[in-house]
This record gives sequence, structure tokens and C-alpha cells, in this order.
Amino acid sequence: MTDDELIEAARLAAQNSYAPYSQFAVGAALRFSDGRVVTGTNIENASYGMALCAETVAVAKAMADGIRGGLDAVAVTGPADRGGDEPITPCGRCRQVLNELAQLGSTDPDVLCVGPKEVKRLKLSQLLPLAFGPASLD
Ligand code: THU
Repeated sequence: MTDDELIEAARLAAQNSYAPYSQFAVGAALRFSDGRVVTGTNIENASYGMALCAETVAVAKAMADGIRGGLDAVAVTGPADRGGDEPITPCGRCRQVLNELAQLGSTDPDVLCVGPKEVKRLKLSQLLPLAFGPASLD
């Protein structure tokens, strides 16, 4: 799957967003080195603080399917009419959750942060430098 297709997969996933409180639909798509793609979207809760972010849902889906590495790229999309011109970037908790899966397979995935005007391509290690991960517990 190309980067553009990965972004499209994230956009498609956001159609299933459950965000009645923020009305802020987020989509995430993870691409693995074996070609598999796993998507996620944000799931909110009447107890607001319990919201699950799109990236975290995608990682949970992947790990529940037994995936433990090979994370090659991540695409994140937000709503077209919110957030200004800047591309959306994963929240701090999602960076940490993505890092767990990335470190398990010793990859440093590209994170495609999608905005209305541009797609910002960053390494996960740029978004989360000096990360605390599985190896930190050795
Ligand atoms: N959200 C995500 O899904 N991913 C992020 O990285 C940032 C925020 C969601 C959480 C909440 O449902 C909505 O966006 C507004 O914060």
C-alpha cells in the first residue's frame, strides 16, 4: 500500500469515529512490513476522560491480532474543518503507545501527519525522542 493509500485508509477509518462529545473525528492507519494494514478511530465515552484515541485503538487492534513488530508507517488524519492549517500530530500518550509496538520490532516508523494543506512526514523518534520503551526495562 502506498503512503497515499494509507492516508486514505485512515480517512476511511475516521468515518466510524465515535466522537459525540468533541465532534473531532480522527483516523489512524498502521502499515506493517509484511503489507498488513490495521486501522483505528477515536472512541469517546460519556465519562470524557475515558476517550480512546485513534492511534491507540489501531495499536490495540494490531496487538490483539498477534502483531508484535514490523511497524513501517503510520497515517493520522483529523477532521477537514477543524484544527487550522497545521497537520494533526499524535498526542503524547499515543506516541508512547506507538513506540511500544515500534520498539518491539526495532523499527522507527514514518508518521504521516495529515493536514488540509500538507502532509508532514516525521519519524516516530522525532515525535518521541529519548523514548522509554521495552528495552529500558532490561
Ligand atoms: N484524538 C485522537 O484520536 N488522537 C490524537 O492523537 C489526538 C486526539 C482524539 C481524542 C478525542 O476523541 C478527540 O480527538 C479530541 O481530543
